[in-house]
Amino acid sequence: MPELDVLIIGGGPAGLSAALCLSRACYKTAIFDSGAYRNAEALHMHMFPTWDHKDPKEYRTAAKAELLDRYGDFVAFVDRRVTSATKDTDNGTFEVVDEMGEEWSGKKLLLATGVKDILPDIPGYEECWVKGIFHCLFCHGHEDRGQKSVGVLAIELMAQAPMITNSYVRNALQFSESVTIYTDGSESVATTISGMVAGIGERVKIDNGSIARLIKEPTGATVTIEFTDGTKVTQSFLVHGPRNEMDLGFAKDLMLDKMPSGGELKVTSPFNETTEPGCFAAGDCGSMGKIVVAGVAYGAFAAMGIMNKALDKPFAIPMCGMENTILQPKYLSVLKREDRNELSLCQAFEDMFNMTTTSGKEGRHDHVEIDVVGKYINARLTQFHPFMVSQTDYAFELIVGPEPRWKKFNTADLCFDLVFAETARVLSGEELCQNPEYIEAIVDYSKSFLMSGFMWPIRPPNWGPIRNWLYWLCTWRLRRDIKRAFRFIIPLINSRLKELEATGNNVEGADLHLDMIQGLLTMNIPQPEERTPVRHAHRVLHMSFAASAVSSALMMHTIHQTLMTPEYVPELRQEITNALKEHGGWTEKALLEMHLLDSFIRELLRMNPPSVFAGQRTILSPTYRFDNTLTLPKMTRIAFPVMEIHTDPDNYPDPLKFNPYRFMGSEPGSERMSAFRITDKYLAFGYGKQACPGRFLAIRQLKLILAKLFLGYEFQWAGGPSKGPKKLSRQVVEGQIFPDLSTEVEIRKRVV
Ligand SMILES: Cc1cc2nc3c(=O)[nH]c(=O)nc-3n(C[C@H](O)[C@H](O)[C@H](O)COP(=O)(O)OP(=O)(O)OC[C@H]3O[C@@H](n4cnc5c(N)ncnc54)[C@H](O)[C@@H]3O)c2cc1C
Ligand code: HEM
Repeated sequence: MPELDVLIIGGGPAGLSAALCLSRACYKTAIFDSGAYRNAEALHMHMFPTWDHKDPKEYRTAAKAELLDRYGDFVAFVDRRVTSATKDTDNGTFEVVDEMGEEWSGKKLLLATGVKDILPDIPGYEECWVKGIFHCLFCHGHEDRGQKSVGVLAIELMAQAPMITNSYVRNALQFSESVTIYTDGSESVATTISGMVAGIGERVKIDNGSIARLIKEPTGATVTIEFTDGTKVTQSFLVHGPRNEMDLGFAKDLMLDKMPSGGELKVTSPFNETTEPGCFAAGDCGSMGKIVVAGVAYGAFAAMGIMNKALDKPFAIPMCGMENTILQPKYLSVLKREDRNELSLCQAFEDMFNMTTTSGKEGRHDHVEIDVVGKYINARLTQFHPFMVSQTDYAFELIVGPEPRWKKFNTADLCFDLVFAETARVLSGEELCQNPEYIEAIVDYSKSFLMSGFMWPIRPPNWGPIRNWLYWLCTWRLRRDIKRAFRFIIPLINSRLKELEATGNNVEGADLHLDMIQGLLTMNIPQPEERTPVRHAHRVLHMSFAASAVSSALMMHTIHQTLMTPEYVPELRQEITNALKEHGGWTEKALLEMHLLDSFIRELLRMNPPSVFAGQRTILSPTYRFDNTLTLPKMTRIAFPVMEIHTDPDNYPDPLKFNPYRFMGSEPGSERMSAFRITDKYLAFGYGKQACPGRFLAIRQLKLILAKLFLGYEFQWAGGPSKGPKKLSRQVVEGQIFPDLSTEVEIRKRVV
């Protein structure tokens, strides 16, 4: 079976135009053509610059020759009717069978099959069609202008939509002194239309006679109408737009929704993808504008849409000094299937930040960090709750202060300070969490850590070992900040170790203190070199970064979004107040009941995930086979295009609009989606077996800090509400998405 990139069904203007675009982009296509073109009976085609008043057949022949001459390696013409088109649900490819029984396979399908005009069942109508009955007075009419009288048939569709008749009448008056509207015996149609055309005056008449048959006269476009009472009238031409239908019986197994009129398929703008993902429509079957130039234009748009979907070909882009292979969403399932031994997030992280080079063997990243979150922290979220509440109060009090007086901040500094102070209780324990010097040290460390990742690609890759040495030199700031933070963390770890020793290192020690450090010290780590205070101290720093940096960015997005769309704040405040009242203050239950806040956070993360790519993994097995068509070698870094998935209109209607209610489950047929719930359409926390283990804590922390912010504080752009940026600029550095770091806000305690 020939396997192609795109199967195009239809060789009219839409199919030919799409094939041209796709050929130029080096995609292999086949155009199936049964030879049934809508304008087959028209001798001339109009409204197409340079092809005006030329034979449409000539245009198709020329377009075909152009394609074969210049792009013969990419396009094949198959002059056969397609009898079936189906989709393989396993791999998303399309299969087509032609009338000779030959099977074809393509990664995408484009329907450019046009429409059929369904002629009314009036004797003689068919003989008059095109020759004396014109369906459009831009396509025809100009050559027959200067008439005394022409007729408009207000029957079928044109009787149901008198606006269309009205517009045809006005168009016809350009070509004739008078126009008569024929309603085929319908009084009510006559009444409605007479109201619409009354203003035109005597040039328009209405005739209610019942039509018996139409007779094409031998000269010009002249048509005689014979009525059932035997009378006759002759007009220079008639105008009538019949109903259109699509002949898509061959595609009955595809999920193709039609527009209510039935004349075209339902598609998404601007690339005309149908309701069957991967299947596009162009030309008359995909647009209300049923003219040749629209077919040509939408053929090109659909081709671009197909390219946007990248034809499921993985592509490579450099990020953080390494090549990353970006895979299509259909491969996400491998992240559910494979564990860290095959596809490793930990190795991908190490590749990106080169921790071994910057901070030595003891500073490298490992799985203990993931396990301490997954096994220790997540098991104690309820116990952490009261500490988190009081630590959040402490952070606001320390940074913003208790006065109802405006205080100006750089938004990034404000959010970093608040979030790092808030998370410090869970990660670094009661001894350090209220030490402002320690908080400052871990904030500085996190900034240097991020910067070190961005410095790696700056070093020329062909410098061999010198590259590592140069990188080491450039990251001196990171080592300085590690040293500074260690002055707080290592003594604490040592004293905790002593305490544990005093208790005989028994298992209960895990709960002597409630924080991640205690979790690390009481975990079962067989290798002694992995249990040293320095090793653990690095882990505390890595986790401080992982747990706080993204949450800080999200808090920045929240402040920016709220200042741009302040209308949601009263409702959020009301929800928070009600939850506190109903569930006894800042309890876990109260937080759980803040559904709008939760949906608000999920929507922000949908629109502002931490990175343009998610699910980054490094292949550890000698080669990894994804499916029949894709195998990648060891150490290949893979990732998935999260922004594409989060802004795909198939996944989210109106995806570029911020809609904080989107995940509330209030739309019929939708369900409420908590902000930490991962699906294959929501990858802010990654996907599969190694998805973010800290997401449950992250959402609790964010809800707490944002609820306290909305309820307890007011904020505005520095200088007043009108001083804010008109548009916020997000930045993407090495794939990481950053909010605008330059904004300034004023914040003060609310007086209620
Ligand atoms: C009488 C008349 C005159 C017109 N004059 C003008 C004009 O002057 N200017 C203008 O702009 N527009 C005009 N139009 C409109 C114009 O014809 C259409 O807008 C245009 O043809 C649409 O292009 P398309 O590629 O979508 O479909 P079409 O040109 O109709 O082509 C459809 C293609 O799909 C193929 N196909 C369908 N089903 C199958 C299948 N199962 N297997 C294989 N192939 C299949 C057909 O064989 C054909 O190749 C006119 C229309 C009519 C009826
Ligand atoms: C809004 C906040 C957060 C976001 C958006 C976020 C996002 C992510 C993402 C995208 C990954 C990669 C997952 C994958 O590729 O499948 C990840 C990994 C991880 N996250 Fe989070 N995270 C957040 C908060 C936290 C918190 C609070 C913690 C800890 C308490 C945490 C700990 C981790 C850990 C341990 C990993 C694995 C890291 C590794 O292997 O290197 N995260 N996170």
